[in-house]
Amino acid sequence: MAAPSKATGFHLKLREGTQQLHDQAEAGNLQDKMVNGTLSKDEFAAFIAQMKLVHAALEPALTSASTSDARIAQIFDEDHVRINKIEQDLVDLEWEGDITPLPATERFVEYVHEKIDSNPISLVGVLYVEEGATNGNKYIAKKLIPALDLGEGKALGFLDPHGDEQRTKWNRFKETLNELELSEEEEAACVESAQETFRMIMNISSELNAAAV
Ligand code: HEM
Repeated sequence: MAAPSKATGFHLKLREGTQQLHDQAEAGNLQDKMVNGTLSKDEFAAFIAQMKLVHAALEPALTSASTSDARIAQIFDEDHVRINKIEQDLVDLEWEGDITPLPATERFVEYVHEKIDSNPISLVGVLYVEEGATNGNKYIAKKLIPALDLGEGKALGFLDPHGDEQRTKWNRFKETLNELELSEEEEAACVESAQETFRMIMNISSELNAAAV
């Protein structure tokens, strides 16, 4: 992939703390199939359906946390709410079934609930992974969506929620990360939850991949 952009401050801590996990995530089987355009429409829809369950837990948690912690309100805004876009993806993908959570998805949802009760600021680490992933997802979208032959602009809500503004929004997000007034302990808690988020997403991907073979 392209050389990574420069990082500083809290953002650098998050990036360094998750670099190794990112390398593993990039090499995941499901991600590999997405980039090669060999993931079927149903497999992709099954992935998006699990992401719907994750976002249906995460977004209200962050919305409620922003009312009690101004730092969460500083970084989390409507740009990060993508449940409606994910639902549209499922329509575009003609997904009709119920959505049964995979064990790894249930774990992710539980994790969000645990953190909202015990340490809400650490959810910034989860948000960092969701937002950072739009970098790679935009690239995946260019490979996968044409291969699915769905028509122009379809099923891009999860992979490419920001469209042409992705770079600008990602740069602004990184700046805001570095402006947050967090203690050392709070930064460490965010790095830890970012690491856990990578693991949980990779576990969802592995469970989906295992179900497909
Ligand atoms: C084929 C799979 C993937 C590819 C090709 C890919 C590629 C990339 C690229 C090119 C960047 C931008 C680096 C920069 O501008 O500095 C990036 C950043 C990032 N990606 Fe991925 N990615 C993939 C999978 C994932 C997955 C599965 C996750 C999360 C579970 C993820 C999370 C992130 C995060 C958090 C960042 C921000 C890193 C930073 O702080 O600079 N990526 N990815």
